[in-house]
Amino acid sequence: MSGIDKVGVVGGGLMGSGIVEVAARAGVDVVNVEVSADAAEAAETKVRGSLDRAVSRGKLDADEAAAILERIRFVDDLEALADRDLVVEAATEDETTKLALFTRIGGLLTSDDAILASNTSSIPIVKLGAVSGRAEHVMGVHFFNPAPIMQLVELIPSLTTGQATLERMRGWVTDTLGKQPIDATDRAGFVVNSLLVPYLLSAIRMYEAGYASAADIDRGMVLGCGHPMGPLALSDLIGLDTVRAIGVSMYEEFKEPLYSPPPLLDRMVEAGLLGKKSGHGFYPYQEN
Ligand code: 3HC
Repeated sequence: MSGIDKVGVVGGGLMGSGIVEVAARAGVDVVNVEVSADAAEAAETKVRGSLDRAVSRGKLDADEAAAILERIRFVDDLEALADRDLVVEAATEDETTKLALFTRIGGLLTSDDAILASNTSSIPIVKLGAVSGRAEHVMGVHFFNPAPIMQLVELIPSLTTGQATLERMRGWVTDTLGKQPIDATDRAGFVVNSLLVPYLLSAIRMYEAGYASAADIDRGMVLGCGHPMGPLALSDLIGLDTVRAIGVSMYEEFKEPLYSPPPLLDRMVEAGLLGKKSGHGFYPYQEN
């Protein structure tokens, strides 16, 4: 047994709220911390919405949905994480923000072997460990969007992560969450984004250069390669700011031109066209 019964999730955005739902559905007591009371309320609305959809599709019993919500506290104070066995940080993909969070949370946790994990896709885990004051108990645990559906979790120990931390985390992911882990090295992009992000950026460059319409690029990969969605629709789903941030981190690490975000992506992010979450990206989206 992993001994992980009380979990904290920092951030209630797309990934944070998904991880909160996954953990609470697995029977775990969850605290979700956001930056303000409004943001905490918005996170609660996201989780409620997702559970309501599951109920209306007949995939979840209404009583069960209520019991899942009972297991979650949505708060705006990091102090609420003090008694947690595991904290998963899923804040914005920004190194300064994450370093500040790991410094603060590392000093808050009361249990000596509590694990502090990051859902980062590209920021070095070793740096987060160094500022936390508990590097042996810090690692990466990378979920995929939509978290309630995607089976994969990447486990990323850094040079300073203890073997016991990695194995406890593996046990929690498999036995408690019922997900399937793969091990990755602490290099920007890990396994999946190292392969996925250059593909997404290539599709954006192709669209930018006018090779084909967005719809035809996406149809090409769905109908020609059997992907569940095309690269531009997937970029919209992930969030264009997130795709850009991962590309920047990977470019900084490897200096590989394929990882460098194309100007169109920069301009779209600057314009607030962030994909599905903002209502507009390569495609327009309506609420629900
Ligand atoms: N939350 C919960 N369940 C969801 C969901 C969500 N956000 N979105 C869809 N689902 C469920 C639906 O309820 C449905 O379940 P059912 O078949 O049991 O009724 C099932 O998923 C299929 O949904 P839909 O019929 O509405 O739509 P699709 O068949 O088009 O599937 C999809 C949607 C699951 C998103 C599918 O298109 C897909 O797998 N796309 C690829 C997603 C992907 O590649 N994710 C990884 C992104 S990379 C990443 O996250 C890493 C990060 O670091 C960038």
